[in-house]
Amino acid sequence: MSIKALKGFKDILPDEVILWQFIEKTTRDIFHRYGFEEIKVPILEKTDLFVRTIGESTDIVEKEMYTFVDRNGSSITMRPEGTASVIRAYIENGLYVRGSVQRLYTIGPMFRHERPQKGRLRQFHQMSVEVLGSNSARIDTEVMAMAWQILQEIGLQASLEINSLGCPECRPAFKEAMQGFLQGRIGHLCDDCQRRSTTNPLRVLDCKSEHCQAQYVTAPSIIEHLCGACRRHFEEVKQTLDLLGVPYAVNAKMVRGLDYYTRTTFELITTELGAQGAIGAGGRYDGLVRQLGGPEVPGIGFAMGMERLVMLLGQKKDGLATRSVLDLFLVTLGEEAYAKGFVLLQMLRSLGLRVMMDHEGRSLKNQMKQADKQNAGFTVILGENELANREVLLKDMHSGAQQLVELTPVFEDWAALIATKIRQQ
Ligand code: HAM
Repeated sequence: MSIKALKGFKDILPDEVILWQFIEKTTRDIFHRYGFEEIKVPILEKTDLFVRTIGESTDIVEKEMYTFVDRNGSSITMRPEGTASVIRAYIENGLYVRGSVQRLYTIGPMFRHERPQKGRLRQFHQMSVEVLGSNSARIDTEVMAMAWQILQEIGLQASLEINSLGCPECRPAFKEAMQGFLQGRIGHLCDDCQRRSTTNPLRVLDCKSEHCQAQYVTAPSIIEHLCGACRRHFEEVKQTLDLLGVPYAVNAKMVRGLDYYTRTTFELITTELGAQGAIGAGGRYDGLVRQLGGPEVPGIGFAMGMERLVMLLGQKKDGLATRSVLDLFLVTLGEEAYAKGFVLLQMLRSLGLRVMMDHEGRSLKNQMKQADKQNAGFTVILGENELANREVLLKDMHSGAQQLVELTPVFEDWAALIATKIRQQ
């Protein structure tokens, strides 16, 4: 019996990779325009890192982590998200001495043992950013505006929902109000919510059960419990989002699935992916660096789920998937043309063109078919006549238009002549 991939782990095949590359390239470019630098962090970390940052009573830590004991008997975990690792690296490598505000991004796979479904995998990929060292509400706005710009430049639509989760000053009063509210309904809640009603009452708002959610429609609003400083911060975030023309809606029930958040949180939601509506999410985490043993440094960031972006873009069928994979397919006829063509092929590649040729001795017709299959932008036919007359026909495979390229007696110049003609198109 053949061996199949693990459930929730997916191969990303060449046709789809075109979309991945487009999304990653566009996003990286925007990250750089906003002054972010890339950081690469390990996939495996000590389990404690995630337990202490994401929170013991979150779904991720309680049910979803790929945790195992390694050969040395240490408990290690395949990262379920990137923030904890980036903060660990920031502290461990003393990145805070490089400057007061650090803008970091990372791209890579994450692992959560969730029930796989459309848009939800066990290995998925995130592009995430973290800004460390600023309390300014303008940074919150800048980060959200950047997420918004990424979606616009990729060509996707979503709605931005924002909330404020307050700070250690104002959260206790809200916790108390929630506990009081939950006590009155305890018999109607799922086991998880019953347990969390005393340990971490905010977390119940993140429950996936529709039955529980129906109970929380009238739950106390965190926004009404914000202290003066958190309220002012949230007001400035909203005002500056308005100033930049980024549309948003306040969702006072959004608590996010990770415990480290303070103040601003946000999600980018689509209705086009069924239940898995969040294509990106993040927020501020002002106490996290300190909590992990670093200096008192505030932070904010977000992550976008690449599979979800790819699915949305794929659904749009905007022609991206059929973009040329090759600039040129070099068709040769006869021994001498095949030998010269092979050298020409390498020269064209050195000039930066994506070029292929046939090595299976196919007929002219079949080589043209091959060019079509490979999605070549152009073909050049090189045969005995072309070698003798020192001219080739360059065919545009999309429009069918043909033009003559005159070559010189110096074979070394041919590649440059052909490349120039292609680039002029
Ligand atoms: P998160 O909301 O857990 O946040 O994940 C961010 C995004 O990753 C989601 O909005 C979704 O698009 C994608 N995602 C999450 N789980 C899955 C899954 N099982 N399958 C496919 N896609 C998934 C975080 O991870 C935070 N670290 C974000 C952050 C960065 N906050 C501050 N800085």
